[in-house]
Amino acid sequence: MMTKKTNFVFNIILLLLSCHDLNLANAAGGKWDLLMSNIGISAMHMQLLNNDRVIIYDRTDFGASNISLPNGKCRNNPKDLVLKIDCTAHSVEYDVSTNSIRPLMVQTDVWCSSGSATSDGTLVQTGGFNDGRNMVRTFKPCSTCDWQEIGNGLIQSRWYSTNHILPDGSQIIIGGRDTFNYEFFPKTASTNKVFNLPFIQQTNVPKEENNLYPFVFLNVDGNLFIFANNRAILLDYTTNTIVKTYPQIPGGDPRNYPSTGSAVLLPLKAQTIQAEVLVCGGAPIGSYLKAARANTFVGALNTCGRITITDPNPQWNMETMPLARTMGDMVILPNGNVLIVNGAAAGTAGWGIARNPVLSPVIYRPDNPSGSRFEIQNPNAIPRMYHSTAVLLRDGRVLVGGSNPNELYNFTRVLFPTDLSLEAFSPSYLDSNSANLRPQIIFPGSHKKIKYGQRLNIRFTLSGSLVNTNLIKVTMVAPGFNTHSNTMNQRMLILSNEKVKRTGILTYQVSSIFPNSGKLAPPGYYLLFVVNQDIPSEGIWIKIQ
Ligand SMILES: *[C@@H]1O[C@H](CO)[C@@H](O)[C@H](O)[C@H]1NC(C)=O
Ligand SMILES: *[C@@H]1O[C@H](CO)[C@@H](O)[C@H](O)[C@H]1NC(C)=O
Repeated sequence: MMTKKTNFVFNIILLLLSCHDLNLANAAGGKWDLLMSNIGISAMHMQLLNNDRVIIYDRTDFGASNISLPNGKCRNNPKDLVLKIDCTAHSVEYDVSTNSIRPLMVQTDVWCSSGSATSDGTLVQTGGFNDGRNMVRTFKPCSTCDWQEIGNGLIQSRWYSTNHILPDGSQIIIGGRDTFNYEFFPKTASTNKVFNLPFIQQTNVPKEENNLYPFVFLNVDGNLFIFANNRAILLDYTTNTIVKTYPQIPGGDPRNYPSTGSAVLLPLKAQTIQAEVLVCGGAPIGSYLKAARANTFVGALNTCGRITITDPNPQWNMETMPLARTMGDMVILPNGNVLIVNGAAAGTAGWGIARNPVLSPVIYRPDNPSGSRFEIQNPNAIPRMYHSTAVLLRDGRVLVGGSNPNELYNFTRVLFPTDLSLEAFSPSYLDSNSANLRPQIIFPGSHKKIKYGQRLNIRFTLSGSLVNTNLIKVTMVAPGFNTHSNTMNQRMLILSNEKVKRTGILTYQVSSIFPNSGKLAPPGYYLLFVVNQDIPSEGIWIKIQ
């Protein structure tokens, strides 16, 4: 039993702890910039490529967009549902360095599709709607390239699927609307078929399709963690066997489309055998039908579940976000923190059935003690509702776009009009008062090829003095394909550092060891950052193979 005195001290400690929490929850940081007010389309899907250009597309069957195809080109597609001849673009390339866009030509409907950058840096996009359902389309990172279409590249038509790149560089495409199976691209003799996955059907309950755009992460053992609705499995896709079944997320509310929470694989230590997943937000069970049929907009979920997926007896740890959110996007920042941005506080995904935009992002610090991980950031002014997107850029900013493309691109007589703008959120690590803490990488140069397990001396400069070599870390992040609050392939590794040493007046060297297998880091392009006391350098592109 506590004495009065210890009780008093205990209360003071509690008070201090709660003040600390309160401070964090009230602290606001980061800043917003409007990059372009009109890119001509609404950014429904985004992927950053290794030439610092972001490929963006909306849907093709929504009437004319607000940007013309170049050189008087028109799309002539008798199967299009709205315009058979359409001289507007539904995809654009955003060039970060010049803050400008270039219209692209996509033939068939890419609405609610999925994708992944491959190991040679090409974006492979799969599926869509109508005439796009079985399509595979590729986009090479080059300043004059355009989309290439591969008819019947998929065996099964796929709409709202999730893709993931695999250790051998191929990709898996999982689920989709009424699609309870997976397939691969490209295919080999033994994978030239679809593989049944009843889990996707079993999680289609109640019949609101809360199993769409499942959250898929490559575990460090090479199996795939697949979360749909309110539960998850670990799948050995090579033998089509479920090797582990995880407990239901506490509360049992659905987290996938249209409830639409978001999820990340938390940053992995380079030679680790442990992996954790964080799932945040969504909408309580039944919210979609209430919104769609009864105009009743239920408050979104304010909880996150965190689970060590490699644990022999995995359990969810629940945490409470300072803001409830559906349709949030989770972006891993260069320093390993997670930005939760976009979305709404009521309703669900779907056309016009969300309310109360959440304008303030929240940063989650995975390494802080539980109870002091969330920090509210400064708000923007543009609601980012259904079909909004967010991806990390090489300079550490987060590119944010899209919202509510309305039928025929209507901008009037709708509650949340079609949004054609692009914004950038700059986390507070980009503030000028951090400039003397900010490392600048001087070696290796851009696009360096790295072998699995390679040790590399990374050199950087600092304009201020280096106070503690233990506060230097090197991170690498795979740029993800973002749509519908799901960032496919988003993955960060924290490299093991041997020693940091001074090599000149303001120059330093850190000896880092890269991950030793494609199970930890599938082959391809990553952004590499040197981080000093949570302040990241600008990233450089590297290619691991
Ligand atoms: C885009 O919108 C502006 C303003 O409404 C309009 O003047 C312009 O013609 C539109 N462009 C296209 C290609 O639709
Ligand atoms: C969208 O615009 C079209 C053409 O101007 C109009 O017929 C239609 O009613 C509009 N829809 C809404 C929801 O405002």
